[in-house]
Amino acid sequence: MSRENVTHARWSSRFTYVLAATGAAVGLGNIWKFPYIMGENGGGAFVLVYLFCIFFIGIPVMMSEVVIGKFGRQAPAKSAKLLAEASGSSPRWAVVGWFGVLTGFLILSFYIVIAGWALAYTFYGFTGVFDGRSASDFNTLFSDLNASAPQAMGWSFALLAITILVVGKGVRHGLERAVNWMMPALFVLLVVMVLYAANRGDFGAAVSFMFNADFSALSWSGVLVALGHSFFTLSLASGIMTMYGAYLPDNTSLVKTSVWIAVMDTVVAMLAGLAIYPIVFANGLEPGAGPGLIFLTLPIAFGTMPLGQLFGGLFFLMLVVAAFTSALALIESSVAWLVERRGFTRMGAAMTAGTGIGLLSLLTIFSQSGASWTQFQWGESSFHLFDAIDYLTSNLMLPIGGFITALFTGYFVDKAIAHRMIDTHPVIFRIWRVSVRYVAPVAITLVFLQLSGLMTL
Ligand code: PFF
Ligand code: NA
Repeated sequence: MSRENVTHARWSSRFTYVLAATGAAVGLGNIWKFPYIMGENGGGAFVLVYLFCIFFIGIPVMMSEVVIGKFGRQAPAKSAKLLAEASGSSPRWAVVGWFGVLTGFLILSFYIVIAGWALAYTFYGFTGVFDGRSASDFNTLFSDLNASAPQAMGWSFALLAITILVVGKGVRHGLERAVNWMMPALFVLLVVMVLYAANRGDFGAAVSFMFNADFSALSWSGVLVALGHSFFTLSLASGIMTMYGAYLPDNTSLVKTSVWIAVMDTVVAMLAGLAIYPIVFANGLEPGAGPGLIFLTLPIAFGTMPLGQLFGGLFFLMLVVAAFTSALALIESSVAWLVERRGFTRMGAAMTAGTGIGLLSLLTIFSQSGASWTQFQWGESSFHLFDAIDYLTSNLMLPIGGFITALFTGYFVDKAIAHRMIDTHPVIFRIWRVSVRYVAPVAITLVFLQLSGLMTL
């Protein structure tokens, strides 16, 4: 407890910070979720609501997290504690920090498994495994991948090992170097996929599915979907932005960088839809979302299309890169914490945190392989541990974490300190403060009630 505050590295520029944070934000949610919820909830009408949520709730909460990190310059719990003390509030507000780190740790335990599936499919795609397979063949392919735990472990542990190596090298030599070439690569892959889809797919059908503004298709539950997703897509409440904010270079505008991150995340989500849905519609497949769309439906199309072997492989490679840059962010706060509080070297900390993640990921892997000890009954329905961790983190811990972050920075952080950290025009500062004091807590409560099933609209 008496250790001095550790001096962590800083990003070498605000551009690298934006790249790294965008890499953290862009993930499976952009690719397999956003385009679908957009299409289902009134297209252009949904986008308006979504942008409102991003600007008035997502970005303000993101700024709150960065404020904590930038003030403390330590791992999230310590930073929150330092900020609370400087504001004359209880040091117990450290909970805002460690709760996020814990959430991120749990999320990574299943995120890495899904990333492993994408890695396996990259390999399948490039080696022609998709060719001429039917829908039922893909059901078999996917369940075979999961049926054998050692196989699923092989793919996800390979990615975990690379995550450890990169994060172990530190902020500048590891994280920065990785995102400096991976983010441009991700963007190029995405544009290439959109061009392929525009050439070989039904672009018009995709555009009308996604963008046709239909206000009658936008219900209140659609509004809550937009809200919940705006939160999830920016990777809030998972320790990420607080940690990345702790490495913020001096003289960096917190407002502008946050807006950039959110805009890039949204652009990627829309491009992902334009890469996927033209292919889905041209091949007469059902539009959908989630693992089913990506691992069962879409490969059918790649298996029949010209150059499908190449572009199928590239598509899954893109998914691997998107998930990998989020994995780096998800483990970073645990690693920084081990360095800070336990005196580990970066590599030792990365290996320790990574081993923990690897062990925890077995819960997901064995859930998928059907091991009986992972399956349980809840009322009428059966679940497994993977469902439980996913539900716990996405539907409970993320909103609770966002809620306490907003409350902390809105009511318990000294206003002058917050203004100094955010360092912007008083009107923008006031908008931020109204959001984290009133708008975000109310909005997050509604999403929480909806997600946890306590309220239905
Ligand atoms: N933001 C990621 C996405 O849109 O896919 C998902 C995510 C990653 C959420 C990591 C939370 C997190 F901690
Ligand atoms: Na995202």
